[in-house]
Formats: sequence, C-alpha cells, structure tokens
Amino acid sequence: MTDDTRSTGADEVLAVDIVGLTKEFGGLKAVVDITIKVPKQRVHGILGPNGAGKTTVLNMISGFIRADSGSISVFGEDVTRTRPFDIARKGVARTYQNIRLFPGLTVLETVIAGAYMQRTSTIAGAILFSPAERRERKAARERAAELLDMVGCRAPHGSLAETLSYGDQRRVEIARALATDPRILLLDEPTAGMNDAESEQIGQLLVQLKDLGHTLILIEHNMRLVEEFCETVSVMNSGALLAEGAPTWCLEQDDVKEAYFGKRSDAARIATLRRVRRDLGGS
Ligand SMILES: Nc1ncnc2c1ncn2[C@@H]1O[C@H](COP(=O)(O)OP(=O)(O)OP(=O)(O)O)[C@@H](O)[C@H]1O
Ligand SMILES: [Mg+2]
Repeated sequence: MTDDTRSTGADEVLAVDIVGLTKEFGGLKAVVDITIKVPKQRVHGILGPNGAGKTTVLNMISGFIRADSGSISVFGEDVTRTRPFDIARKGVARTYQNIRLFPGLTVLETVIAGAYMQRTSTIAGAILFSPAERRERKAARERAAELLDMVGCRAPHGSLAETLSYGDQRRVEIARALATDPRILLLDEPTAGMNDAESEQIGQLLVQLKDLGHTLILIEHNMRLVEEFCETVSVMNSGALLAEGAPTWCLEQDDVKEAYFGKRSDAARIATLRRVRRDLGGS
C-alpha cells in the first residue's frame, strides 16, 4: 500500500535505495523483500510494532548485518556487501536502540572519538605533538562542544558519558554520530526514555539537520513526533512492508492500525497511539 504524494521522481538522487532486502535468522524471517527509497535531505521514519524488523533494516544499511538477498545503495553506490567501517566512511552514521557509549570516556571525549575518521595529522605528528596536531585537537574539542550544544546536551563536558541521564546519553550519541560529518544519519529510537518536551527538541534537531543537508532515517514509536517531523515513512510488520508514504496517511490505513492493535482496532485507539510516546511496547 503506497501513498504516492511524496513519491520519488525517477531522476531524483536517492540517499538510500533499498531494493528487495531480505534477512532470515535461523528460519525466522526478520526482513522480507523490503524496498525503501529515501531521497537526500529527507526525514524518513521506519515504523512498526515490536519485532517488525526495523532495527534489522538499519543494521543492514550500516553493514552490521549482511542481507541474504536484495541490495542497498548509498548515493548511487552499492554497499550491500560493504563492511561497516567502509560504509561509515561513505558518510553513514548511526545511533543505537540500546545506547552504546565508550566506557570511561567523558562527554567531550566521546564526541571527539566520533571525529577520529576525519583526522588529517600524521601519527608522527601526534607523537611529537606538532603544531598541526595541537591545532587539530583544539578544533576537534571546539567542534565537539558545538555539536553537544546543537543536540541540546547540557551535561558538564567533563562528566563520564555513561553516568548521564538516558536522554543526555542519547544526545551524546547523536553528537558522536554527527562528529563523523555524515551525509546520512540513522537513528534507532532517538527519543526512547525522553519526555514530550525533550522529544520535541529532538524533532526540531532533525529539521535543523535536514536544513544543513543531512538525510535522516529514524525508527520511532512516538507517533506525534513522526507525524510532526517525518516527511515520509515506511511501516513494517512481521518483516514486510505494510504501507509507505505520508505519515498521517499511513497511520490511517486499516492494516497499519491492525498491525499495532490487532483486529479490534478503532479510531479511538489509533488516536491514543498518536498521543502516547512509548507505550506501544517499545523496547
Ligand atoms: N541477531 C539476531 N538473531 C536472531 N534473531 C534476531 C536477531 N536480530 C533480530 N532478530 C529477530 O528478528 C526480528 C526482528 O527484530 P528487530 O530487532 O529488527 O525488530 P524491531 O522492529 O527493531 O523491534 P523493536 O521495536 O522491538 O526494536 C525479531 O523477531 C527478532 O527477535
Ligand atoms: Mg528495534
């Protein structure tokens, strides 16, 4: 089922072009023949109930899991069999559903660590602590502070990242991803553990990043946020694509409501779905 109000033109540059993607885990069909086309500078949501296969799709885009069949291209380049590090170098950064911060690093160090791929000074320069190295370190610190400010992290930069609130840890993770200067940012439930006001700030950040030229693909259970900030969505259920197009249109489709609520779905319940942040059984 497709709402083609925001369909992609044939000559449009696709940031991410997924065609017929399939992944099984020991007989369990986690992702079945999924096709998702995301033009550049788009905020695209991936929706679906628990176990729908959303994270598996993100894991395949970032190369963490290899697809059984189908293809993934990033800005026209096939990355279906490319390793995660090389996909990251092509400008794809991500955050995780279960936050993954480096233990023992401060907030600032965590974000600086994200920028290591952009380093230009040599190892000899680093050992000798050359002026170029010093300049680069200073620039990395300043950039990291800028990014932390941008994502709305108000925690002291010297505190250990792992000790922050859930919301701040997610913000630090986004800042770390941005430090790699990505063209595409993949966010797996970026507002999990945040209240409405905090979630709204993340929504505003998505728009800001889009305006800066980034393409954003996010998995999100907060339907209000999805309707407000996602331009298009793909809705999955049991590994398959259920609907795609404008979020409001998709959420009105009977089989989307049914996927979330079962056969007894009704208008009141989908309205609740749009109000409630995480009560959909999000993990
Ligand atoms: N590495 C794995 N090995 C085996 N099964 C897996 C693996 N990863 C995911 N699965 C299974 O694949 C299915 C899809 O999982 P996935 O994590 O992609 O769902 P999801 O849509 O992200 O769900 P949630 O909203 O709960 O995060 C689930 O049944 C899950 O148990
Ligand atoms: Mg998931």
